[in-house]
Formats: sequence, C-alpha cells, structure tokens
Amino acid sequence: MEKMKIVATARQVPERVVSNDDLAELMDTSDEWIYPRTGIHNRHVVENENTSDLAAAVAEKLLAKAGWAASDLDFIIVSTMSPDALSPHTSAIVQGKIGADKAFAFDINAACSGFVYGLSVASSFLSSRRYQKGMFIGAEVLSKLVDWKDRTVSVLFGDGAGGVLLESTDEEKGLLSEELQAYGDRGEAILTGRFANKNAFAGEISPLDPYFHQDGRGVYSFATREVPKVLDKALAKADLQADDVDFYLAHQANHRIIESMAKNFGQPMEKFPTNMVEYGNTSAASTAILLDELQESGQIKPGMKIAFVGFGGGLAIGAQVWQL
Ligand code: ACO
Repeated sequence: MEKMKIVATARQVPERVVSNDDLAELMDTSDEWIYPRTGIHNRHVVENENTSDLAAAVAEKLLAKAGWAASDLDFIIVSTMSPDALSPHTSAIVQGKIGADKAFAFDINAACSGFVYGLSVASSFLSSRRYQKGMFIGAEVLSKLVDWKDRTVSVLFGDGAGGVLLESTDEEKGLLSEELQAYGDRGEAILTGRFANKNAFAGEISPLDPYFHQDGRGVYSFATREVPKVLDKALAKADLQADDVDFYLAHQANHRIIESMAKNFGQPMEKFPTNMVEYGNTSAASTAILLDELQESGQIKPGMKIAFVGFGGGLAIGAQVWQL
C-alpha cells in the first residue's frame, strides 16, 4: 500500500441548469430520446465562468474544509481537456488566485480518464515522500467545446469541477493498486479541440475544427468491453475480489455503460453510484463531483475500499483501488 489519505473533497458546478426539455427547444431532440440512452436529464452550464473559476472555487472549498492555509500546499494539479488557455495553464491560474505561494502547479490532460490519471500523478509525489500536501482538481467547461447545433454530442456534456486534498500519512490507508492503459490507435473515436496548421510557410491550411465529435457506438462498445479488463487487473494487483470493494466510482458518461460494468462484476448497482442524471458527462470532473456528493451524504466512510474508474478520449482507461 502507498500510504496517503484523502483529507477533503469538494465540488463546484455552475448554477444554470439546462434540462433535456430546454435542449428540445434548441434542436430536434427530446427527453424521451436522451434519458433512456444516457441516464441524463440535466446538465449545468456556465454563463460567465471559465474552467479556472470552477477549479479555484473547488480549491477554496477544499482548504476551508480541511482548515489548511493555501501556503501549506506543495503542489496543485488540474486535470482538464477544456483549459482557459494553453498558457497560462489552469492550475497556475488557480495557484495565483488562492495565493498558494509555496506550491508548484501543472495541468494534465487524459480526457475522461483525467481523474484517475491525475490521482496517479499526485499519489506518486506523496508516496515518494518528496512532497507532503497536494491538491488535485478535475475541472471542465465542456460547453465551449460542443457545437450546440449538433444533437449527437451536445446533449451528453456538462460543466463542473471537483477535487481532493491529499496528504502523506503513516496510517494504514492509501492507494492499493492501479492499472493505466492507452489505446492511441483508436484515438479517432473521440476528437475535440483540433487546431489548424497555420504557419507562414505551410502550403495548405488544415481546417480548424474545435468541436467535439465521437463515434458514439464505437466508444460504447470500447467502454463495455475494455474497461472491465483494466478494472480486473487493478483488483488482481491488490489481491481483491469484486465483492471486497465497497464502491466503484466510474466516469459518468452513460448509465448503460455503468450498468454493464456492474453486471460484468456481479455487483449491485448500489455499489456503482451515478449522478449523470443531474450533470451529464463532465469528463475529468465527473468522478470527483460524485466522490464529494457521497462524502457529503455520509455514504463513504473511513476504512472503505473504493475503486475509481476512468475511460474516454485518447482512447484511455485507468483504474485505481484505494483504502480510505
Ligand atoms: N436526439 C434525437 N435523436 C438523436 C440524437 C438526439 N440527441 N442524437 C442522435 N440522434 C439520432 C441519430 O441521428 C440517429 O438517427 P438516424 O438513425 O435517423 O440516423 C439515431 O438517433 C441513432 O443514433 P446513434 O448515434 O446510433 O444512437 P445510439 O443508440 O448509439 O446512442 C449515444 C448514442 C447515446 C451517444 C451512445 O452511442 C453512447 O452513449 N455512446 C457512448 C458515448 C460516450 O460515453 N462517450 C464518452 C465520451 S468520453 C470523453 O473522453 C469526453
């Protein structure tokens, strides 16, 4: 076991709620189409905030919950596929906003697996004992990457952020195992934020296409087929059976994908909580928002074993098992 603890969790979602019925006024869609296929009724969408605003709000809440000063932090990592800008990076904006004067900060992007990959990096810093106190936040404003005329993707996503404070410890708690896997040869299945080739010498300029595109069916079958294999490896590394895990917190892309995962492992849906009904798919933020909700409702307790499972763009998958 790599000894460390999750000291606090927090979330921030924009106030504005957009329902499936609201979308039906914008495009040819309906709650009857969206909900049965995805499990999504609502998503929260920003008005004036950007990704760093949501992340900074999470950062302030985390510090307040733990009673830490910003200057206690050794590092801040933000996982996002929808940063404010490529430079400055979103974590640096957060560091400046909260005045974490001793912390270094950097972003990672592993799309919808970003929560698990970010936790992996943060936990390595702590288990190596190079650093003692860290903040990790998944934050997304996906509404700016979506073509709001494209009903095939715009109905799926939402904006939000969630995060954790982590600390190295001598207590018997921490990371039990992980399995990370990339499938770059299948990357075309999820595309977004593609830049044009625009230098002064280029003969032909590629068209700019910032919007989100996906092979929905391809992603669905990839997730239902490959995610269980990766999770299985993570459980085996920790010498655990599926029954030994108290909760599986999976990326909130689609209710049917999560149902299929639960069935695959012979586990009741109560062990695979979901909240995409209210937030849609918030990519790197989704698991962190769910974790905070379960923490707040008292469902997650010290000593429990929790598996985090991410999957999506890259393509990529990651699974970790923690003892809280
Ligand atoms: N409203 C009404 N009709 C729609 C909508 C909509 N919002 N979207 C598509 N349709 C129509 C299509 O045009 C198509 O019509 P046609 O048959 O006349 O051509 C029909 O519905 C069926 O479309 P499909 O795309 O085949 O629908 P499917 O049953 O596959 O469901 C869905 C689509 C929900 C996207 C499903 O494929 C899915 O959930 N896939 C997984 C997606 C996912 O998890 N992505 C994660 C992204 S991860 C990341 O890294 C960000």
